[in-house]
Amino acid sequence: MSILALRVHRDDKGIQSKLLTMEEQQLSPGNVTIAVEYSGINFKDALGVTGKGKIYSQFPINAGIDCAGIVESSTDPRFRIGEHVLVNGCGLGENQDGGFANKVRVPSEWVISMPEGLTCRTAMIFGTAGFTAALAIDRMEQNDQTPAKGPIVVTGASGGVGSFAIHMLSSLGYEVIALSGREEHIDYLKSLGANEVLNPEQLALGSKPLEATRFGGAIDNVGGEILSGLLRHINLWGNIASIGIAADHNYSATVFPQILRGVSLLGVSSTNCPMERRRSVWNRIGKDLIPENLETIVSKEVKLQDIGPCFNELLDREHRGRILVNCS
Ligand SMILES: NC(=O)c1ccc[n+]([C@@H]2O[C@H](COP(=O)([O-])OP(=O)(O)OC[C@H]3O[C@@H](n4cnc5c(N)ncnc54)[C@H](OP(=O)(O)O)[C@@H]3O)[C@@H](O)[C@H]2O)c1
Repeated sequence: MSILALRVHRDDKGIQSKLLTMEEQQLSPGNVTIAVEYSGINFKDALGVTGKGKIYSQFPINAGIDCAGIVESSTDPRFRIGEHVLVNGCGLGENQDGGFANKVRVPSEWVISMPEGLTCRTAMIFGTAGFTAALAIDRMEQNDQTPAKGPIVVTGASGGVGSFAIHMLSSLGYEVIALSGREEHIDYLKSLGANEVLNPEQLALGSKPLEATRFGGAIDNVGGEILSGLLRHINLWGNIASIGIAADHNYSATVFPQILRGVSLLGVSSTNCPMERRRSVWNRIGKDLIPENLETIVSKEVKLQDIGPCFNELLDREHRGRILVNCS
């Protein structure tokens, strides 16, 4: 049976992606086949498809690091035909054909039964972005983050991870400072629960190895100087969850925040999050982290056929929230 897929090739001109039809037998191997209903565009997909980042370990490959859909066949008794499931990370769309397609085939160890409270569509509004925001908060709370330690700064605020982080933190009782370079998103960020929206100049992070403690913690999507600066301001025993590199993958720091204030820099890696923890975070999302205004986080919904221009829009910072992809 033919499948429509966004397939990425590498040739002497570099990375090329094309929407094409392929046969099901050509898909990467796996013991569960899923008819994909929805996927979403993540920063990593945009880096990979445009060739701006080295994401793929094999070519050709169908892009898309997450998807939700309906089980078509399975040799694993845990997953029945017709059941709704999701897959995110684990190598999907990096070393195994991914979710920008009508169909994926994956090892059953990667498959998650749809959590109560979520549908294929709402699960992919969250997608890897929402999952990663929830995973970051989970890690911070496990390391004793509490609202009493002070406000949490969310950087790259109007992106997918940032939007969900703001909503989740706010609904859990944290004061949230959204850091955004886009003034036009202030109302949107406040509607998600941000108490304050600042730009990097207004945040004024200073340059001394230690500055006044102003924040309980941070969820950082941008890296670089902002991450360096935030570390200098975190309150005693607070945490920064390091998620992204939207600005820069380098940062500079002293060990003073760690050794004099007990501050922790927590790594958050959605790709290789252990499955037990992945399931528990997804279940928590379905149970108590769904915003009432979830649809406002969808900047647009596109059909697989219309996905082409979306990758540059995301990298050029022309969007907010999530771009949902209808693959059915
Ligand atoms: N560790 C993991 O497992 C994991 C999982 C998912 C995502 N990520 C990473 O997390 C980051 C955010 O992902 P996302 O899906 O939320 O991406 P996104 O939707 O594109 O959001 C990124 C946001 O960062 C800000 N930004 C973009 N370019 C910037 C620049 N040059 N300087 C400063 N800020 C900039 C923008 O926010 P404003 O316009 O509001 O400033 C933008 O909306 C990415 O680096 C991504 O690779 C990591």
